[in-house]
Amino acid sequence: MPLPGNWLLHHSAATRLLLLSLVLMTFCIHRVTANCSRSCYCSESPEGGLAVRCSGLHLPEVPRDLPNDTRHLYLDYNRLTTIPTDAFLGLSLLSELDLSHNDLAQLEPGAFRGLAESLEFLDLSSNRLMALNPLAFEGLRSRANLTHNPWHCDCNLQTAMTLLDLEPASLAGVVCRTSEPEEAGVQGLPFLLAAGADLCVAVKKTTDVAMLVTMFGWFAMVISYLVYYVRHNQEDARRHMEYLKSLPSRQGRSEHSSTLSTVV
Ligand SMILES: *[C@@H]1O[C@H](CO)[C@@H](O)[C@H](O)[C@H]1NC(C)=O
Ligand SMILES: *[C@@H]1O[C@H](CO)[C@@H](O)[C@H](O)[C@H]1NC(C)=O
Repeated sequence: MPLPGNWLLHHSAATRLLLLSLVLMTFCIHRVTANCSRSCYCSESPEGGLAVRCSGLHLPEVPRDLPNDTRHLYLDYNRLTTIPTDAFLGLSLLSELDLSHNDLAQLEPGAFRGLAESLEFLDLSSNRLMALNPLAFEGLRSRANLTHNPWHCDCNLQTAMTLLDLEPASLAGVVCRTSEPEEAGVQGLPFLLAAGADLCVAVKKTTDVAMLVTMFGWFAMVISYLVYYVRHNQEDARRHMEYLKSLPSRQGRSEHSSTLSTVV
């Protein structure tokens, strides 16, 4: 009966083929993941370098093992709450960084350090940012999407915006949710377009008042000290005079003291 042998032969060939392709596949996957972050998917970018996709992976922090030739990095729809200092240091080709739809409430100083030369687009939209830390952006000149954040417009934010080098049109995305002072009339408006709003005026006013109060306080202290000093000295002079008068009086001495007392 030649059939079982034949079948066995065919069977083992198929098995071997399957095994071989499995080995090849593992090898290929290993090759791909070897220069990609463990938690992300990498593909060649048309401009050279890699497009690294880490979207929607519930990541609580920026992966530390990003390949140094990452050109596009997608970290949107994760659970990032902060961007630590030097989070992207060494990614010298990075031109697009998508951090949208996270829980970002703050960006630490130097968060984007090392990206000033390469970064063209930074997406920070749909996060929880209330304030801008100019130290986080350190010379970044890229375009940025800053919309859909609960911006708190106050003197600090106004000052920060003048210190940023981001593409100016990007700042139109800073729409005020709350403001200080509340009655500034900027809520719901892009901060840059809230014509004439100067949120540092109120702060200047309160500093002026504080300065005035302090100055008045000092003045009052100096005056009361002067009054005290004069009174005290008057009393001293009178006591001295009484002492002189009470001395056993000779003729000249008492004359002398009476002239003194008229002088005083
Ligand atoms: C990435 O790192 C490797 C080895 O450390 C280096 O040879 C290569 O030039 C680096 N690439 C970039 C784009 O920095
Ligand atoms: C900015 O982000 C918002 C929300 O994530 C999106 O709807 C909008 O199209 C983006 N704008 C630009 C200019 O990319």
